[in-house]
Amino acid sequence: MIVGVPKEIYPKERRVGLVPAVIPTLKKAGLDVVVESGAGLAAGYPDSEYVEKGAQLIGDRAELFKTADIIVQFLCYGANDVTGSQDLPLMHKGQALIGFVRPLGTLKTLQEIAERGVTSFSVELMPRTTRAQSMDALSSMATICGYRAVVLAADTLPRMFPMLTTAAGTIAPARVLIIGAGVAGLQAIATARRLGAVASAYDMRPAAKEQVQSLGGRFVELPIEAKDAQDARGYGKAQDETFYQKQRELLGKTVAESDVVITAAVIPGKQSPVLVTQDMVKKMAPGSVIVDLAAERGGNCELTKPSEVVVEHNVTIIGVFNLAGTVPYHASALYARNVSAFLQHLVRDGKLQLDLKDEIIRETLVTQGGEVVNARVREFFGLLALQSAPAGGGA
Ligand SMILES: NC(=O)c1ccc[n+]([C@@H]2O[C@H](COP(=O)([O-])OP(=O)(O)OC[C@H]3O[C@@H](n4cnc5c(N)ncnc54)[C@H](O)[C@@H]3O)[C@@H](O)[C@H]2O)c1
Repeated sequence: MIVGVPKEIYPKERRVGLVPAVIPTLKKAGLDVVVESGAGLAAGYPDSEYVEKGAQLIGDRAELFKTADIIVQFLCYGANDVTGSQDLPLMHKGQALIGFVRPLGTLKTLQEIAERGVTSFSVELMPRTTRAQSMDALSSMATICGYRAVVLAADTLPRMFPMLTTAAGTIAPARVLIIGAGVAGLQAIATARRLGAVASAYDMRPAAKEQVQSLGGRFVELPIEAKDAQDARGYGKAQDETFYQKQRELLGKTVAESDVVITAAVIPGKQSPVLVTQDMVKKMAPGSVIVDLAAERGGNCELTKPSEVVVEHNVTIIGVFNLAGTVPYHASALYARNVSAFLQHLVRDGKLQLDLKDEIIRETLVTQGGEVVNARVREFFGLLALQSAPAGGGA
């Protein structure tokens, strides 16, 4: 089978779906790789490295789509809501597509992919199980976002992060608060600590406490308990407005005492809860920084302007999207390893194995045979369950 890697076409996207290092492993698994010329250049992977590792280059994008049995992209049509539709006419019946497709975004987009006869797999829907861990692209990207959020904050804050004792006096360490200690939040704690800051974190999932502490962070305990804080897939569950109101009241003092607040409290497929209000921002010291990793879904801070950096009440609020994309070399390397593991799982004896009893296949498969087939996606968009869908599929 032939795996095709087109150049990413989302404006300013620098990542690439596969890096040269994974090509020999794929070849061993019986997969040949064709790459659009220049696809890896902006991430730091020149064409020559792909060729050295055994890939073939194709200059013409349409030709690449025609040649490939499986297309591997970072931002497929769907996740690429700006220019992604350009690829639709290039896709052909029976072709497989792997990448970020934003399965809970717009139904029409998914239907358009289905109508092309494409068998698409959404990396966002990868189950959070030990077996699927090596294929979990969301966690890879979240790790980079957490790191990058701290680096951005350190670059913006008019203070240093570490405690320093110098002949000119002692400098107190920066206080960094992380709200939402998932993968991104935990990496933010680790990075803030490496830079010498005092890090504390809050999460509504009680299980997060131990993880925060194991990274040397202080866990902020609030005297409220979330109802079913975590769903069966390990994600945080949406709470009611009364709960969020109480959280805001209780978090106010801790936010005011922090130099940097990194918010990463997201709920898949939902607007992010507002946990930092305008009033809370007003009480922060001048020069403080908020990095809102939930900006794409509205933001955890009331004053976040999605995709922008704003200064309000002397506090810089960074709502920039796609922080993982700003570290394209390593984002591509991690993603390529995730996808390569998925490909090895998916392709057996030169064929796609679409065994729906396999949780990894069942949960990530979005379109097949002209239809949106994923049970979770269908339920999300209010579509009737398919008769042939296996019980419990992806829900
Ligand atoms: N393969 C695996 O086993 C696997 C893979 C990835 C993550 N995980 C685990 O799943 C958990 C969630 O990680 P994630 O990165 O997917 O999280 P996420 O990106 O879905 O959400 C971020 C965090 O925000 C928290 N949150 C949401 N609303 C909140 C609120 N109102 N107040 C406070 N916190 C709020 C959530 O509890 C979550 O921890 C972590 O414990 C992580 O280690 C396991």
